[in-house]
Amino acid sequence: MKISIVNGDITQLDVDAIVNAANESLLGGGGGGGVDGAIHRAAGPELLMDSRALGGCATGDAKMTPGYNLKARYIIHTVGPIWQGGGADEDALLTRCYQRSLALAQMQALQSVAFPAISTGVYGFPLAPATDIAVKTVMSVSQSGGFSGDVTFRCFGAEAEATYRNALARLDV
Ligand code: AR6
Repeated sequence: MKISIVNGDITQLDVDAIVNAANESLLGGGGGGGVDGAIHRAAGPELLMDSRALGGCATGDAKMTPGYNLKARYIIHTVGPIWQGGGADEDALLTRCYQRSLALAQMQALQSVAFPAISTGVYGFPLAPATDIAVKTVMSVSQSGGFSGDVTFRCFGAEAEATYRNALARLDV
C-alpha cells in the first residue's frame, strides 16, 4: 500500500473515491462549510437527490454514491463522531469510519481512496489523536488483508499536514 499526505482541497483529486466527512442525514453540510459542503457543491445537485434514497447513515458507518461531476468516480460518505471529551466511544467510532470506508472500497475493487481528517473540523475531534487513528487504522486494515491500494490523506493547511507526517513517521515501523 502507498500512503500519501497531500495538502489541499479533496474535491480536486483524481482518485477512485474520495471520502466525505458527512452527518447522519447524508443531506449535505447545512451552511455549506467543511468537506461536506465542498463535495456537494463540486459533485452537483444529483448527489443530494440520490442521497435522499440512502436513508441516512449511522455514526461510524459508511455509504457509497457515484462521484457525479467530481473527477473521483465514487464518494464514500462516512459519519465521524462528535467530540464529547473522549469518553463517548469517540476513538472506536472514528476507527470504524476508516474501516467501513475501506471495506466499501475493497468491495468495489477500487485502487485509490482519499480521506479528509474526519471529525476534526465542526465535530471537534482533536487533530493529533485523530490523525494517529487514521494512519494506524489504514495500516492495520491493509496488514490484515483488507484494502491495500493507494491511500491519500488530504489535509487542509500546513498544521494538519505536519500532524499527519508526524503520525506516519511514528507509526510506520
Ligand atoms: N478538502 C480537504 N479537507 C477539508 C476541506 C476540503 N475541501 N474542507 C475542510 N477540510 P469538517 P467534521 C478539513 O468540518 O469535523 C459537515 O458540515 C477541515 O479543515 O468538514 O467531520 C457535515 O455535514 C477539517 O480538518 O468535518 C457534518 O455536520 C476536516 O476537513 C460536520 O460538518 C473535517 O472538517 C462534520 O464535521
